[in-house]
Amino acid sequence: GLVKKRTDTIGLIISDVSNVFFSNLAKGVEDECRKKGWNLFLCNTNDKHTRDLSYIQALADKGVDGILFCMSLDSDKKKAMESIKLFEKLKMPFVMIDRFLEEATCSSVVVDHVQGGYAATKYLLDHGHKKIGCITGPRELEDSCDRFAGYKKALDEYEVAFRKELVYEGKYDCESGATGADYLLKQDVTAIFAFNDMSAYGAYNRMNQKGIKIPEEISLIGYDDIFFSELLDVPLTTVHQPVYDMGVEAVRQLAAEVESERGSRKCITFQPVLIERASVADKK
Ligand code: RIB
Repeated sequence: GLVKKRTDTIGLIISDVSNVFFSNLAKGVEDECRKKGWNLFLCNTNDKHTRDLSYIQALADKGVDGILFCMSLDSDKKKAMESIKLFEKLKMPFVMIDRFLEEATCSSVVVDHVQGGYAATKYLLDHGHKKIGCITGPRELEDSCDRFAGYKKALDEYEVAFRKELVYEGKYDCESGATGADYLLKQDVTAIFAFNDMSAYGAYNRMNQKGIKIPEEISLIGYDDIFFSELLDVPLTTVHQPVYDMGVEAVRQLAAEVESERGSRKCITFQPVLIERASVADKK
């Protein structure tokens, strides 16, 4: 049959280039590409599923050897499947990175977010908090669902009843973090678990504006551990994701896919680590 000509170029599709989380991912990817003598095309979708589709197609048209794919936030399961189907139609080797879809039978590099959500919530519970609000990511996104499952698991373990009014659905950005904080403060929470650092910054900023002291009055914990989190006046306690290493690993995984004819599907799961800083205190 026809052997596809290699271009030694791959594509990386990310959802929000303004979030340092994805910059670190891109760095890991690019560094590993350079080691292999590969070039990299970087595409940013601004979390729009239609742009996922058009970039997958555009990269294929440019003849890339494979694609690392972090899907957009507005991908519900149906839309996510559409992207997967497009890869299959194009016979394009790909690896899902960070954001994952259970139903997709493909290689992936992800983090154990049930464990991450559990560790963050347990930490707050260990500090005596019971009314713990959370600012989640979009409801249909698996990584947010998993963090949420971890949150519930910890509550269960401590026999703290789950209350759905303490859950605010955010969008992994500052703005929804701020509106999430407004909402949760009205529910009288003593602690907030933001499902990513960007939304934690929004909550942090809103509490500052309102003169609410972190952590004396409200404890706050984030997720991702991006660069700015330790630079805040009150350095943010957060859950670290080894995102640079994930980028490196994803390139290796894609190389295996590209080089072996039948593909070598593998799901690689990294463990998150709780980073203790100054934004959580004992409940008074
Ligand atoms: O900050 C971006 C978030 O979206 C991260 O937590 C990451 O895991 C992703 O899905």
